[in-house]
Amino acid sequence: MPSRERDFQSAQEVGKIYNSIVNKKVLCDYFLESVFPFVGSSQGYLLLAGNNNQLWLESSNGPAKECPAEIEDQAKITLREVKPCLKGCRIFLPLVVQTSVMGVACFTKEAGPEFEKEDLDIGFNLACQLSGALKNILLYEEGLKMERLAAVGQTISMVMHELKNIVQIAKLADELVRRGIKNQNEKFLQHGLDGIAKALKEMDGFIWDMLSLTKDYRVEPQKTDLRAIVEELKHDFEEKTRELGITLDFQVEDGLAPVDADSRALYRALLNLVQNAMEACDKDESFIRIRVESKDKDFYQIRIEDNGKGMTPEVRAKIFQAFFSTKGRKGNGLGLMIIERTCKAHQGNIQVQSEQGKGTSMTLTFPKVLPRS
Ligand SMILES: Nc1ncnc2c1ncn2[C@@H]1O[C@H](COP(=O)(O)OP(=O)(O)OP(=O)(O)O)[C@@H](O)[C@H]1O
Ligand SMILES: [Mg+2]
Repeated sequence: MPSRERDFQSAQEVGKIYNSIVNKKVLCDYFLESVFPFVGSSQGYLLLAGNNNQLWLESSNGPAKECPAEIEDQAKITLREVKPCLKGCRIFLPLVVQTSVMGVACFTKEAGPEFEKEDLDIGFNLACQLSGALKNILLYEEGLKMERLAAVGQTISMVMHELKNIVQIAKLADELVRRGIKNQNEKFLQHGLDGIAKALKEMDGFIWDMLSLTKDYRVEPQKTDLRAIVEELKHDFEEKTRELGITLDFQVEDGLAPVDADSRALYRALLNLVQNAMEACDKDESFIRIRVESKDKDFYQIRIEDNGKGMTPEVRAKIFQAFFSTKGRKGNGLGLMIIERTCKAHQGNIQVQSEQGKGTSMTLTFPKVLPRS
């Protein structure tokens, strides 16, 4: 087989390696290195094109690290003409994918015979294969960027929605306090002060929830009385559940000793669970049950159960995903993610059982004692 034909076959093999590289920088470096033996060069530059066909040096291989101005000028011409170009001891290869040009690769020779037409052909063959692989990486990066942008947008809209609700409560409270003072009406004053306390608590809770979604989320476990947390939850949900006709049945095992837990984080997690249970209740005789008990000498369990609408297997499979909600504008789809992170931070786990039309039970299991950090 003539050696040029062999070269083209080997170039196909090299192209397969390009496709297996997932890092842009590594791919560009590898490309320059891999073209050298085919064209007999030892200096290469890879320039990528941005908006308005501006070029930048992505990678260079050989003794010279900087790209000489005259090479950059010729690369700009190649980029415009979208044609491989041979200029004595330099070849310029446009990086073409379908109808777009992503950049230009240039190879030079300091000594020896000048490049030939065959060098240009095989170089362009490799450059085209590089372009396909590079495009895939850029598309993937673009996809990630779009996903991130979408997540930022969703987060901002969720934060605004929550803050607006809290401001609404505070505004009403402010109005009641003013009227209470003006008319010397103690009832208004009391309602206003209660409203301010509620807005502060919601704000505090919201900050906690947001903190628990951050990368550096840490809990600060201390000896915690679980009964106090459950009592607080009962107090917080009593009025709303009474209005909705939901029975609260909260029980903590007698004699359960204090456990290592971050009481605010645990309270927020349970609050999110009870909130979900309440939102799922759709029957006349609905109930929300909480059972806190010792599992064995090392672990305790908290089970939250409701006889609400339950979940389909499809919903069940997605509940811990960020922004997954079946509640439209009423749900952010972050509650269970926060709960899961709080469980992990306490070295615990969460198990979910749910049946459509029958109800849901979520069991959190935690160690009673956490190693001190
Ligand atoms: N007790 C439950 N019964 C039925 N479905 C539930 C229950 N708990 C959670 N789900 C389902 O899981 C989904 C995700 O719950 P999650 O708490 O993460 O978000 P959300 O309640 O929709 O919004 P938010 O961020 O405001 O809590 C809910 O939209 C709902 O479909
Ligand atoms: Mg929720």
